[in-house]
Amino acid sequence: MDGLEVTGCTRCGDLVESRSQIVNGAGPEDADLLFVGEGPGATEDREGEPFVGRSGSVLDDHLRDVGLLREDVRITNCVRCRPPENRDPKKAELANCRGYLETEIVRLDPEVIVTLGKVPSEHLLERSVAVTKEAGTVEDARIGDTARRVLICLHPAATLYDRSQTDTFAETLETAAELAGLDGGGEGSGQARLDGFD
Ligand code: URA
Repeated sequence: MDGLEVTGCTRCGDLVESRSQIVNGAGPEDADLLFVGEGPGATEDREGEPFVGRSGSVLDDHLRDVGLLREDVRITNCVRCRPPENRDPKKAELANCRGYLETEIVRLDPEVIVTLGKVPSEHLLERSVAVTKEAGTVEDARIGDTARRVLICLHPAATLYDRSQTDTFAETLETAAELAGLDGGGEGSGQARLDGFD
């Protein structure tokens, strides 16, 4: 691995067959917020960037609602190659890709890691997670040899299947922005209201 970019990895036989390219993380290398998804889907596999399909649009919209742009945050996945038929990554595949994710976390040293869905939440917290119940909660996790702040979040796709999850997703992104100290300028934020009086 050359820093943050993985090239030519062939550790996972199934994934090497199913991918058309390796999808590395995207966004600033000093971002305060790191979003971690499960693995690339069809659109990500085609375009070579995480969260650029329907789930990505949901994420972008909710980021905008809390005053952030996709370009302000870093987005990556537990595994960097598309699993066949969008199945969950297997334990061995998660383990094979773990070092790349840990390197990315060390390089970024983010204020908060936001886990998008069950797979990344369980992968980084190393316990079973009831995401729907636990979304919005923050927990310290030892990742590599450092304690990191992890914020459990629903997968953005959950809001597409179940509209009642939209509020939870929105609230969790608000928490993420607050924890990272990035909540100054969002629509509806106190700062935006105060700015109106300048
Ligand atoms: N879902 C994920 O978990 N990751 C992506 O990159 C896209 C969809």
